[in-house]
Amino acid sequence: MHMTNEKCLPLPHQVRIVEVGARDGLQNEAQNVSVATKVALIERLADSGLQTIEAGAFVSPRWVPQMADSAEVLQRLTPRTGVRYPVLTPNVQGLQGALAAGAREVAVFGAASEDFSQKNINCSIAESLKRFRPLVATARQAGVAVRGYVSCALGCPYQGEVLPAAVAEVAHALFEMGCYEISLGDTIGVGTPLRTQAVIEAVARKVPRESIAGHFHNTYGMAIANIYAALEAGIAVFDASVAGLGGCPYASGASGNVATEDVVWLMQGLGIETGVDLDRLVDTAEWISTELGRAPASQVARAVLAKRPSPHAELVR
Ligand code: HMG
Ligand code: MG
Repeated sequence: MHMTNEKCLPLPHQVRIVEVGARDGLQNEAQNVSVATKVALIERLADSGLQTIEAGAFVSPRWVPQMADSAEVLQRLTPRTGVRYPVLTPNVQGLQGALAAGAREVAVFGAASEDFSQKNINCSIAESLKRFRPLVATARQAGVAVRGYVSCALGCPYQGEVLPAAVAEVAHALFEMGCYEISLGDTIGVGTPLRTQAVIEAVARKVPRESIAGHFHNTYGMAIANIYAALEAGIAVFDASVAGLGGCPYASGASGNVATEDVVWLMQGLGIETGVDLDRLVDTAEWISTELGRAPASQVARAVLAKRPSPHAELVR
């Protein structure tokens, strides 16, 4: 694979995975998932070596009912040295809830598409940035780090094409207001490798490359190819979801995030450190998939499980 305009950068020695299964993965789940299951999932993910694990979202329970118990989930987690549990906060009300529940890291989520912004957070892009500014300032005053998301970085379910310049503009605004990292979301998984690199190059002209992360959904099966392209473009932080859980409630047809197991397998093959124990992660993928009554969406988990004698082996054959 070759970048069109620029020379490929050397691949990193280490990649940080932001595990989003308990938030992005479960937010769209139709069946009730108990607090106990969510907490057990997050603890198991930490046991497998993941150190950044999104634990929920302080959003309107009318918009996303599955995340309504995020305060309880946060409060029940056992703190571990070196492990962070960020939560989503769309407004100051959400931040207040998150701080009261003990959150030490939060994330704001904007979009590069006007239509998606309206559908997802009920306001324009400009209004969202106005909303985020006091939120970020208050969080930082409380010593709480803030990450920023830009949805529809590679396409929008409502408006279609999204220009790289529009992505860069929102990413820049979030970075300028104090977000320590900007995660570029391929919300509906329509991205392809060269397009991914083009968007990263546009954003990297306004945000330091080391502060950019990739968030790929796997709707068209391109997520791993896009991650490889992003590695070549100097990105070393990727969001992923155990067992490939997920989808966005305000982006119909969006499938789950790239599976964490698939990302770990890719990195192992490239000799890139993630700090994650693949076997333990596959155990967790199998466990949560059994809890939800389905097989893991992850190809790697299915392949590893198919080789193991397991009482659930019939799920993957
Ligand atoms: P709104 O209806 O415009 O809010 O929603 P409002 O300020 O007019 O308030 C209306 C009611 O909501 C009030 O209650 C508020 O108290 C309540 P009432 O007086 O009617 O009883 N409310 C809240 N309740 C709890 N927590 C809050 C909160 N704020 C207001 N924080 C709002 C605006 C932003 C709240 C709503 O649109 C919302 O919650 N949206 C979230 C949608 C969402 O969670 N989407 C999924 C996450 S984003 C994603 O998945 C993409 C990502 O993965 C990256 C990618 O893939 O691209 C990150
Ligand atoms: Mg997402």
